[in-house]
Amino acid sequence: MTIHIFKSATDTARGLVEQMLEWVGEHPEPTFHIALSGGNTPALMFDVWAEEYLEATPWERLRFYWVDERCVGPTHPESNYGMTVTHLLSKVPVNPEQVFRIQGETAAQDEAGRQAAAEAECRRYASLIRREVPLKESMPMFDLVLLGAGDDGHTSSIFPGQEALLTTDELYAVGIHPVSGQKRVALTGKPILHASRVAFLMTGSGKAPVLKDMEGTADTGPAAYVAHHAHEVTVFADDAAGAQVSPIAIT
Ligand code: 6PG
Repeated sequence: MTIHIFKSATDTARGLVEQMLEWVGEHPEPTFHIALSGGNTPALMFDVWAEEYLEATPWERLRFYWVDERCVGPTHPESNYGMTVTHLLSKVPVNPEQVFRIQGETAAQDEAGRQAAAEAECRRYASLIRREVPLKESMPMFDLVLLGAGDDGHTSSIFPGQEALLTTDELYAVGIHPVSGQKRVALTGKPILHASRVAFLMTGSGKAPVLKDMEGTADTGPAAYVAHHAHEVTVFADDAAGAQVSPIAIT
């Protein structure tokens, strides 16, 4: 695992975008398949990407998928897709054919109906991913999985206590937010570990203990597990998130 620490959240965003552009530049195939995470942290990185790297990015080569989605509609304030449209996709020359959103919405009125809808969306989206993303050894292999980590050590929407999602054979499974009970459609552990590269974007002091665990050797939670077992893991953190680790480089 390589840890890059930057002096501010904006510099961290720039560091990640510049590294992504290098990875895309080196990629031998015309198309580069990225799975994006949501939450709050990527918003600034998306703004920086759209505003400072508009010309430098070969947008036509990119295909966007999601690591996880909250079970809400695309215009709901908690939608990861909606956030990405606001901060990135509405500002850059990307066609709808390059964007594959998870459909978090459901008309179901009760708990059982919402669970069934989330499971059905996991199956639909997994088939879409199998169709769109190149397979290696029968498993879709994203060129880049971009992850965040929660203060509780979760990543994707694989929360502590729901570690079965790390080892299931399903590509996507239903994660449940432990506090709100909100259902999430979540990329599971095996396809994350199978990706060519995994990048974590972590800013703010709340993430410092999680990054410390990721740097350590014990699989204390889902983010630490992914950090220890995925192929090529690079962490982009600001100095607050990186306060308890030894970086490879401070920029
Ligand atoms: C989500 C995510 C999730 C996120 C972490 C960090 O839907 O919430 O994709 O895995 O990366 O929860 O979230 P913050 O950036 O909001 O701290």
